[in-house]
Amino acid sequence: MNNRKRILITGAAGFLGSHLCDRFIKEDYHVIAMDNLITGRLKNIEHLFPLENFEFYNQDVSTFIHVPGDLDYILHFASPASPIDYLKIPIQTLKVGSLGIHNCLGLAKAKGARLMIASTSEVYGDPEVHPQTEEYWGHVNPIGPRGVYDEAKRFQEAITMAYHTYHGLDTKIIRIFNTYGPRMRLNDGRVLPAFIGQALRGEDLTIFGDGSQTRSFCYVDDLVEGIYRLLHSDYNQPVNVGNPDEISIGDFAEEIIKLTGTDQKVIYQDLPVNDPKQRQPDITKAIKILGWEPKIDRAEGLKRTYAYFKSLSTEELNKKEHNNFDKYVK
Ligand SMILES: NC(=O)c1ccc[n+]([C@@H]2O[C@H](COP(=O)([O-])OP(=O)(O)OC[C@H]3O[C@@H](n4cnc5c(N)ncnc54)[C@H](O)[C@@H]3O)[C@@H](O)[C@H]2O)c1
Repeated sequence: MNNRKRILITGAAGFLGSHLCDRFIKEDYHVIAMDNLITGRLKNIEHLFPLENFEFYNQDVSTFIHVPGDLDYILHFASPASPIDYLKIPIQTLKVGSLGIHNCLGLAKAKGARLMIASTSEVYGDPEVHPQTEEYWGHVNPIGPRGVYDEAKRFQEAITMAYHTYHGLDTKIIRIFNTYGPRMRLNDGRVLPAFIGQALRGEDLTIFGDGSQTRSFCYVDDLVEGIYRLLHSDYNQPVNVGNPDEISIGDFAEEIIKLTGTDQKVIYQDLPVNDPKQRQPDITKAIKILGWEPKIDRAEGLKRTYAYFKSLSTEELNKKEHNNFDKYVK
């Protein structure tokens, strides 16, 4: 018997989940990874399979969760995360943010584990307050197309806080702002891989709207550090983690064209319904409570991310779908 801390990570085969597995393995935890591979890929975690302190369960967390033995921590990161995904699988998105978290909370209560949920800047909806502080309650259309994701995440926060208040569970809520890095899927609909994919395939870069809408991008290693610190803090209220360095999508397209050294044009299409016009975290709390600030600027983060996408095979680069929806969507 060793005395390694045991952590369950749901959504472990996804972009963020796989980086979390790497980090907790590096910190010498016993990592129990769980995923039903609906948007994730085993390729993201297969390098961990030979390790004796790593195990993987192919399991839909919305159905049920069973983990034998002790558990010290649970990170609930399972959820479709990009608009393209959750618009195609809206019911699964709502289920994992409601039934899935309920299962995780039940497990945390039974095992006496500390639980963290991956919430999102989308709980703020199309914000009327800028930048967004944790005190802002948001501006979400519950029945708009994005409501399936935003409201699932808002419910997830509500039930997590209820377990904290009524059952005394030690819970953490992280509100993640746009994060990027290696292992994102090229055509998951998020702007950064979309632009890089288009540049690598020699296509023009598509901007939805006039390009004046803003985003702020956080490099994945910075986010993982924020998650690690919040998990080990004694703070139970929501905390924004993201990079406040804001850029318009038009300027961002120019940055990608410069980075990839291509001579593509930018083309414009209609803005999707309820697309947020501005996104920028107020990270005062993260700085004060966690002593956390992003360290990797966009130039460096983009260089590392571009190197990853460039290393993909032509087949991968030209693949239409990077998910397993066929198995799930009839
Ligand atoms: N990447 C970001 O910028 C960002 C921003 C805010 C919040 N988040 C949140 O972080 C989490 C991870 O996002 P990501 O970007 O890594 O997305 P991702 O799609 O790469 O990963 C999500 C993972 O969850 C798995 N999953 C989905 N439903 C499941 C279920 N019912 N049972 C088991 N596994 C299931 C998927 O197969 C996938 O591996 C999500 O909860 C997302 O809402 C991400």
